[in-house]
Amino acid sequence: MPFHHVPVMTREVLHYLKPGQGHVFVDGTLGGSGHARAILERLPPDGVFIGIDWDREAIAHAQQALKPYAHRMHLFHGNFTQLPDCLRRLNVPAVDGILLDLGVSLQQLEYAGKGFSFNKDEPLDMRMDERTSLKAEDLVNELPENALADLFKTFGEERWAKKIAKSVVRARARRRIQSSLELARLVSRAVPMKRPVSRRIHPATRVFMALRIAVNRELENLRIFLDRAVDVLNPSGRLCILSFHSLEDRMVKTRFRGMADPCICPPGFPRCTCRRKPTLHILTKKPVRPTEEEVRANPMARSARMRVAVRLGTDASKDDEKSVKMEAHA
Ligand SMILES: C[S@@+](CC[C@H](N)C(=O)[O-])C[C@H]1O[C@@H](n2cnc3c(N)ncnc32)[C@H](O)[C@@H]1O
Repeated sequence: MPFHHVPVMTREVLHYLKPGQGHVFVDGTLGGSGHARAILERLPPDGVFIGIDWDREAIAHAQQALKPYAHRMHLFHGNFTQLPDCLRRLNVPAVDGILLDLGVSLQQLEYAGKGFSFNKDEPLDMRMDERTSLKAEDLVNELPENALADLFKTFGEERWAKKIAKSVVRARARRRIQSSLELARLVSRAVPMKRPVSRRIHPATRVFMALRIAVNRELENLRIFLDRAVDVLNPSGRLCILSFHSLEDRMVKTRFRGMADPCICPPGFPRCTCRRKPTLHILTKKPVRPTEEEVRANPMARSARMRVAVRLGTDASKDDEKSVKMEAHA
């Protein structure tokens, strides 16, 4: 399968992750290895790179594409939620930078043959890791109508969720829906068309995204990862997350804030009595967005939002915090 993914916001990722400064860097979503290569090119010769992806093809591709760096690289076929296990196996207690570039890669969309794209006639599978059992076809054919509508509404933010769910249920009563094109056509017929086709995203975009998120438990994985990542970051280590969905971005924002300001004293309390200490300092108060130039060159970057935070010292002293803040403004 060809791999020609153009990595999103590489310049910004490198700016914040600063791979030259640390020794151990993790890319939890290797995909087409675009970010991985950029990080490896900047990593000092004694630096170590750890790459994870739960798509077997992405790992096989990385083994070839990153061959010149094989002596200082470790690749894992697995879920990024398993990062602490990977580190234990390598005897690495903590790392200096972690990148997640969430979602689906271009090669998965175009060449995986798993029904990620509404433009192709493929089996409705959508599993990024074929070791998991639930397929998109199971959800489409077996979820009750209101659960399907909820799924399209919540994960896809689809305005016509109920209408689409109704059409799906009517169609599947005749025969099982098995292909991506069949589903895409069904969705297109169910939603009212107002704007000319050229000015709209494909009517099935949101439904396909919702199914992919549900099949791969993408929000659940992100939540587990955020709970674990900070414990495996060295002081001053950076956590950089690129998301493409508002629910993901909101989860990153809320979790970062919770770790940057963990105080649980009631609002208006004159003095903190809970004595919880911050573990993170947020470097991006607002999410960083791709430049217009990048979006023109690579429309897949359109909805990207990047948030970055830095791990404070283990006792999170005020001095640590101050120096990190100064660096953030430099
Ligand atoms: C947008 S692509 C990454 C592209 C990559 N940064 C590049 O430069 O080519 C997302 C990748 O993350 C992987 N992925 C998504 N969720 C994952 C998870 N929970 N654990 C491991 N890999 C995951 C997908 O299989 C896909 O290859």
